Amino acid sequence: MIGRHKHCIALADYSREEILEVLDLAVSMKEVLRRPIKKVPSLRGRSIVNLFFEASTRTRSSFEIAAKTLSADLLNWTASASSVTKGETLIDTARNLEAMRPDVLVIRHAAGGAPRLVAEHVGCAVVSAGDGAHEHPSQGLLDCFTLREKLGTLEGKTVAIVGDISHSRVARSDLHSMPKLGAKMRLCGPPTMIPAGVEALGATVHYDLREAVEGADAIVMLRIQHERIGDPLIPGTREYSKFWGLNAKKAAEWLKPSCVILHPGPVNRGVELSPEVADGPHSVILDQVQNGVAVRMAILYLLAGGTESEAKA
Ligand code: CP
Repeated sequence: MIGRHKHCIALADYSREEILEVLDLAVSMKEVLRRPIKKVPSLRGRSIVNLFFEASTRTRSSFEIAAKTLSADLLNWTASASSVTKGETLIDTARNLEAMRPDVLVIRHAAGGAPRLVAEHVGCAVVSAGDGAHEHPSQGLLDCFTLREKLGTLEGKTVAIVGDISHSRVARSDLHSMPKLGAKMRLCGPPTMIPAGVEALGATVHYDLREAVEGADAIVMLRIQHERIGDPLIPGTREYSKFWGLNAKKAAEWLKPSCVILHPGPVNRGVELSPEVADGPHSVILDQVQNGVAVRMAILYLLAGGTESEAKA
């Protein structure tokens, strides 16, 4: 369990204390990853199924490494090689895999709400690895972990999220977690990519990039989610990059020296971030990827029923 929760589906459901439970345990998990032998027996005998209906590099790999570091058994299932291609439904797929007695199903799906629907039909724990434009809770948690690590605390810090806010499940999970840890949120992007009424989540809205990033302690840059957009919402990527992309000149003129830049990946180099900024001194993008393993270890450990002393073994 994470606090009251058997599942990890949406950070909107999680309290500050429940978020901190994962982040604090992830500190111990990161220590395990620094050891020469990166293996603890905490989840020996437990099994995890990765159920990915959408492509992934970071999330799927890091759940796999997290499970294996904790000595759990892991099955990687892919839609294209499954009986989904013969018409099997999501619920039938999940119930048949659950009949093989895994402890956790990790699911990514293009439809918002798919992990919650699965959770209503199976007995094991369900972790969302991202559902449509709804939420990406493990990404939100690893973003919080990275900010705590780099800034010390989120209390009183200003975080700007820049880009395609409307279609971003990462933006939604960040917005449902960072303010609970005390961060002040700014949102910035083209007017067509900022959802109406988003200020209700406690963020200020900016259409001018300089206004959004000046004085910020951290910036989360997002890619345009072309796969979730029907008609074009911007004239083109050149215009987008000119107004909402960060390059070395803008970074040098507008950012605080201590400002950190996050990006959930994949980065579209030359669009939202120039290569100099993506690989430059402000960037903590690869730290996010490394922290993703520790945070996913903590999630799996708490939901698959390990104990605190085993985690540190
Ligand atoms: N951040 C993220 O979800 O990346 P992947 O799509 O590669 O998993």
